[in-house]
Amino acid sequence: MFLKALTIEGVRNLRSPELHFDKSLSFLVGANGSGKTSVLEAVSLLCRGQSFRSPNIGTVIRHGKSDLSVWGEVEDEVRGALKVAFRKTRTNETEARVNGEDIQRTSKLIEYLPLQIITAESANLVLGAPKARRRYMDWGLVHEHGAYLAWRREFQRVLRQRNTCLRNVGESGAMHQLDAWDRQLVELGKRIASVQSDYVIAVNAGLQRVLPALMGGDEAGFDVSVSYHSGWQEGDDFSEVIRATRQRDVELGRTVAGPHASDIRIQVSSRLASRIVSRGEARALSQALNVAQAEQLQQATGRRSLFLVDELAGELDAKTRARFLSLLESRRYQVLAASAIELEEMGDLADKQGCAMFHVEQGQVTKRRGVDN
Ligand SMILES: Nc1ncnc2c1ncn2[C@@H]1O[C@H](COP(=O)(O)OP(=O)(O)OP(=O)(O)O)[C@@H](O)[C@H]1O
Ligand SMILES: [Mg+2]
Repeated sequence: MFLKALTIEGVRNLRSPELHFDKSLSFLVGANGSGKTSVLEAVSLLCRGQSFRSPNIGTVIRHGKSDLSVWGEVEDEVRGALKVAFRKTRTNETEARVNGEDIQRTSKLIEYLPLQIITAESANLVLGAPKARRRYMDWGLVHEHGAYLAWRREFQRVLRQRNTCLRNVGESGAMHQLDAWDRQLVELGKRIASVQSDYVIAVNAGLQRVLPALMGGDEAGFDVSVSYHSGWQEGDDFSEVIRATRQRDVELGRTVAGPHASDIRIQVSSRLASRIVSRGEARALSQALNVAQAEQLQQATGRRSLFLVDELAGELDAKTRARFLSLLESRRYQVLAASAIELEEMGDLADKQGCAMFHVEQGQVTKRRGVDN
């Protein structure tokens, strides 16, 4: 997809006219607190119906205002021209429209507008808890299996019901109910684990293609692989596992095994990456995972993702930073990158001088140069 134009109202400190982005790289520069991340946040609201910074919309809506709105004009490889509108109020009322048609679930927006978000917290994809990696699988699989999100929602519902049942096994009829929840949990769990497993295999193949371009020949000794962990003992049948662990689950009052505990195991030279990589390596690796995900999406659907890159200058050394942008450029992904440091001061990015350039100052976004309005 190509986000051509963006209009923002009521998002944090921003006051901007309609913004017109470059098909390749658009660069947002400005002092700390000027509003750069807020512009990226507005794009995230448009494409995912949520901010990547705060789950609480009240903190994103401009002080003293009751709602925020974002409008976008998108050119999609498959769906053609799209006009997208998103509005959210302090009381969490949500309206989303694509080409004038109401979107019932904001999760539908994700399917329309594939986005990759890279922020200062990106290293957590490698270093942090499994939840971030499960979300990574979710972002990818949403586009590949129309029913995936529905399966995930249904699985969570069944899991909650089973957990309640586990805590009430003493009540009459509870064991019978538990049998019924087990059957549904196993059925959905196997389905989810199967697509997640296939997905991680595909991502691993993509990663092997992306890493050499990102590491620029420095990848020797940086032999990275990702593999899927289903949330139960490798090779065991999920229905057997659920049967065998029922007593333990009753004692704990919750279901231990299942895709709610799945993970992606990231290894560097056969060692767990989270235990050995540096912060900068973790950020580079997570960026490689983002690109591998975008590549997988493009292969599966023919659609390119939009990349939001916050704090471009953060953590990465100049060479890795430049190689990352070149990689995205060579794959013809659109990029919106923000930085408090001017491009000119980021040595290896001198050749990116031709990109669209926006200056952000106290919430005012002004175009310095680039595509015409
Ligand atoms: N709900 C809100 N209403 C109005 N202003 C807000 C709101 N939330 C945050 N702000 C202000 O918006 C400004 C912009 O924040 P933002 O994080 O976008 O800046 P930034 O340019 O990314 O800065 P940095 O370079 O430090 O990352 C900050 O000064 C912040 O205090
Ligand atoms: Mg910022």
